[in-house]
Amino acid sequence: MRANWLRVTDARTALREELVAQGLEPREARWLLEEYFLGDDPAATSAVRGAAARRLKGEPLQYVLGHWPFRGLDLDVDERVLIPRPETEELVTLALDELAARDCATPLIVDLGCGSGAIGLSLLDELARRGVRANLVALDVSLDALAVARRNALKHRLERVSFVHSSWFDDLDRSLRGRVDLLVANPPYVGQREYETLEPVLDFEPRVALVAPDEGAIEGFADVAHVIGAAPAWLAPRGTLVVEHGERHGLAALAAARRAGFRHCRDVTDLAGKDRVLVATT
Ligand SMILES: C[S@@+](CC[C@H](N)C(=O)[O-])C[C@H]1O[C@@H](n2cnc3c(N)ncnc32)[C@H](O)[C@@H]1O
Repeated sequence: MRANWLRVTDARTALREELVAQGLEPREARWLLEEYFLGDDPAATSAVRGAAARRLKGEPLQYVLGHWPFRGLDLDVDERVLIPRPETEELVTLALDELAARDCATPLIVDLGCGSGAIGLSLLDELARRGVRANLVALDVSLDALAVARRNALKHRLERVSFVHSSWFDDLDRSLRGRVDLLVANPPYVGQREYETLEPVLDFEPRVALVAPDEGAIEGFADVAHVIGAAPAWLAPRGTLVVEHGERHGLAALAAARRAGFRHCRDVTDLAGKDRVLVATT
């Protein structure tokens, strides 16, 4: 028994050293071993080597591992969805604060462009922990993304969610107009020209999740502007839109919200002091 344990430990150490010698960071080599070295057999060894080869070619660690934490959830992620970003966790805090201020017993939430489900599923999960039975509609224009979000809902046994294939509000059930308590969105907001200058690692993420057309002279702002402009018709009285945007979009987002008829609007900066999230209430 002990001899076997020592043999497995030696094999694991040798493999870790091999991966580090190939150029992997020691921390990442350890994570790949934890994920893929599930037995001391040739299949496990080749799974680790395969994962390391993907990482060494530049694929994001999150995709190679196949899952990544976002707030309280361990979300499955792959090349069909955007890797949920830490700054988007702040959007969830803002949304929870807005709902708490409204004291809504069974809020109806719509997550526009749900991707992996990061925002909407976290809200469902955290509200349930506070005893709030919310209902979620998670929509995306990408069927691939919806498949990943559905899998994440099953993984975390989050049942009060329906999935809708739609370009923004186009195919959302009309009966929801005027009834949504909280709209959350993290639309694509990188302009085409900016996209060309970004890190090559972003090439692994779906372009539809990142790049948006310009809105007049404002680069990458068209999807955010569309969501802000259309949102009031779907919100209940005192309903709130919480939408992430680019760091140069703060003033434009506030102006768009006022034009759309929102009565209370503020723009919130992220931990790095950059404009990041519009919070607007009807
Ligand atoms: C920046 S990603 C955000 C994903 C996820 N909400 C998150 O925060 O990690 C933008 C998402 O919007 C979706 N999307 C892009 N254009 C869309 C459209 N016209 N209608 C609905 N969803 C769209 C993309 O497929 C992608 O999942």
